[in-house]
Amino acid sequence: MSVPSDLPEFAVEVEALTKVYRRTGTSPEVRALEGVDLAIPRGAVFGLLGPNGAGKSTLINILAGMVVKSSGTVRIWGRDLDRETRAARAAIGVVPQEINLDAFFTPREIMELMAGLYGVPPSERRTMEILEALGLGDKADAYARSLSGGMRRRLLVAKALAHAPPIVVLDEPTAGVDVELRHQIWAYMTELNRKGTTILLTTHYLEEAEELCDTIAIINRGRVIACDSTPELTARLDRKELTLTLGRDLAAVPGSLVRFDAALVAPRRLIVRYRPSAIRVDAILAAVAEAGLAIVDLTTEEADLEDIFLALTREDGAARRGPPAPEPPARLVADREAETVARTRSKPLP
Ligand SMILES: Nc1ncnc2c1ncn2[C@@H]1O[C@H](COP(=O)(O)OP(=O)(O)O)[C@@H](O)[C@H]1O
Ligand SMILES: [Mg+2]
Repeated sequence: MSVPSDLPEFAVEVEALTKVYRRTGTSPEVRALEGVDLAIPRGAVFGLLGPNGAGKSTLINILAGMVVKSSGTVRIWGRDLDRETRAARAAIGVVPQEINLDAFFTPREIMELMAGLYGVPPSERRTMEILEALGLGDKADAYARSLSGGMRRRLLVAKALAHAPPIVVLDEPTAGVDVELRHQIWAYMTELNRKGTTILLTTHYLEEAEELCDTIAIINRGRVIACDSTPELTARLDRKELTLTLGRDLAAVPGSLVRFDAALVAPRRLIVRYRPSAIRVDAILAAVAEAGLAIVDLTTEEADLEDIFLALTREDGAARRGPPAPEPPARLVADREAETVARTRSKPLP
């Protein structure tokens, strides 16, 4: 395999990437990506997050060579996608959003075929090892069409790993899969990453991004609107909530607390919202003590990824003076939209 042995700082670098899907028949022109810059560090688990139609699959499909970019540059494992196409391709294994498997091949045949395509010599192939790791060992010689949906999805992951690429890209790996399979896929990704594989995944499940990704880029309508480490991204909202359970009933917020954003939500329950960058929690606690109140219990709540995601995509919609994105909240969408290119290139299972 022709993956360079010198290790690049970035597994994937994308600069000023633009994709315009041309007008066809009844469909209008679509500007799916508008000047996207991304640098994915080697060894990262990088999440590309965004609502339906944001451009995630377009970006992934450009990396996979299934969609031709309109302009911009892409480097995969230090190799330019235009000038060193083969080497760039060899460095990446892509798990597409749509299941595209040939129904009349067995998992073993599919794995061997992929390894052969990438020129992996038979002695270096790890077909059974990979199939077993994904719980498909006993299905190695069954026709793909006889596999369950969950098995097919795992086979897609196996197929992307057949040439042992240093980068694995997964487009919505757990869309529409049950909780158990989701956790299996997460565990396997974590294990692969621990062994050194760089992982890029797209998702609109915020929980998935929070669980797996160390760095997250949020993409909306073809543009990157935020890119940061997961904790720094959520810290951006600078919002915290302190809930206090008190030792006795109150009729109103005590005087010592009125300078805070405090609300009495029950006779013994006080909620204080504050900006951690401006107010320290001990100042709030001191004010409670000053009022002569005993604290029976307390909890704090931080802004999470969903809060930041909604805040950023809303801001972005307002900034562009258009109506806000029509999509329902990200975690509620069951995304099964077809990828035209993937579909026309593959024979779907019956
Ligand atoms: N093959 C295609 N032809 C025309 N438009 C497309 C094609 N694929 C995607 N699009 C459009 O490009 C935009 C981005 O889509 P996509 O990259 O699939 O977003 P995501 O994966 O984030 O949901 C959408 O408006 C979508 O309708
Ligand atoms: Mg998609």
